[in-house]
Amino acid sequence: MSTDPFTPPDVSDEELLALEARVQEAQRNRSLDGLTAYGFGEVSIALGWPTDEPRFVAKRLIPMAEAHRIDEPLAAIETLIGRVTDRGHRVLPTETRRVRRPDGQHVGYVVQPIVPKGQLAETVLATDTPTVGHPLLVAVRDFVQACGGDDVMLDAQIPNFARVDGELWLLDVTSPARFEPDGTLIDPLADLSAQLVPAVLRPALGKATNDILQTYRGVHNQLTQVAVFLRRVDAEAWVQPAIETFNEVLDEPIDPAVVAEKWEKNQKDFPKIKKLLQIQRAWQEKVRRRPYEYLITDSFTGEVI
Ligand SMILES: Nc1ncnc2c1ncn2[C@@H]1O[C@H](COP(=O)(O)OP(=O)(O)O)[C@@H](O)[C@H]1O
Ligand SMILES: [Mg+2]
Repeated sequence: MSTDPFTPPDVSDEELLALEARVQEAQRNRSLDGLTAYGFGEVSIALGWPTDEPRFVAKRLIPMAEAHRIDEPLAAIETLIGRVTDRGHRVLPTETRRVRRPDGQHVGYVVQPIVPKGQLAETVLATDTPTVGHPLLVAVRDFVQACGGDDVMLDAQIPNFARVDGELWLLDVTSPARFEPDGTLIDPLADLSAQLVPAVLRPALGKATNDILQTYRGVHNQLTQVAVFLRRVDAEAWVQPAIETFNEVLDEPIDPAVVAEKWEKNQKDFPKIKKLLQIQRAWQEKVRRRPYEYLITDSFTGEVI
């Protein structure tokens, strides 16, 4: 086996607070100008810091007034990392951090080394020929079989991994939700996300989040979502080979028509959620005169919207 290709960065609280001040400015200006972003997901922006010559990637959680409300989700992220490594798989070296802003708010950050583009699993989709049994597809399948299941929410889409010497490294750890045996969702980020919508809409947000996260429960769903989200990175040609590769290990095969339907539904649902956030931002900034602590981005284009 290879030696670790990734070196954990050494990051001070002062650096995180300097980044946080820039993020607050970006939120006010609704612009990422002057910041370095390596990627956009539905949850996080992978920000490089310092901007001009980044040494590390930082992903930010929504700030909270009480420290424990940040420490709990960070502990859940550590648990997720432990689960993956206990099962013999790899997670990018990841540090969970909490800093206290001058205004007293606590902010959580997930700090990681920067993965060069050539080492992102996503790059393989653009450079290799899609085939049934491609080593990348088999590696993701193995990962989901070992680390996924009914008790955990696992988003194993290809952009969530680095790949070095054929080995996968999970880099997306910011959705550390799990499920009780009866399927009840335990979402440690629920309190944080609730800050982004008006109180009257919180039950609706809870329901929408539950509906979305349930689609990442169980090995069958988790592999289905990998196939669904290939279209998100323009890898349509990989969808059929992925389905066939995954079906080799599934009792009940993934249906390509369901994968296509789920993609259509996602394309409709995500803009709806963003619209909801924008309405709340307008209300919070104009009526309550309180800053909105989130950068609403189009995760396809990376634009702040
Ligand atoms: N450490 C990293 N180095 C380089 N790029 C990264 C790193 N972490 C994330 N990214 C990029 O940012 C994207 C979004 O980050 P991710 O952790 O997956 O957030 P989300 O939970 O929102 O999906 C990734 O798909 C990847 O392209
Ligand atoms: Mg991701």
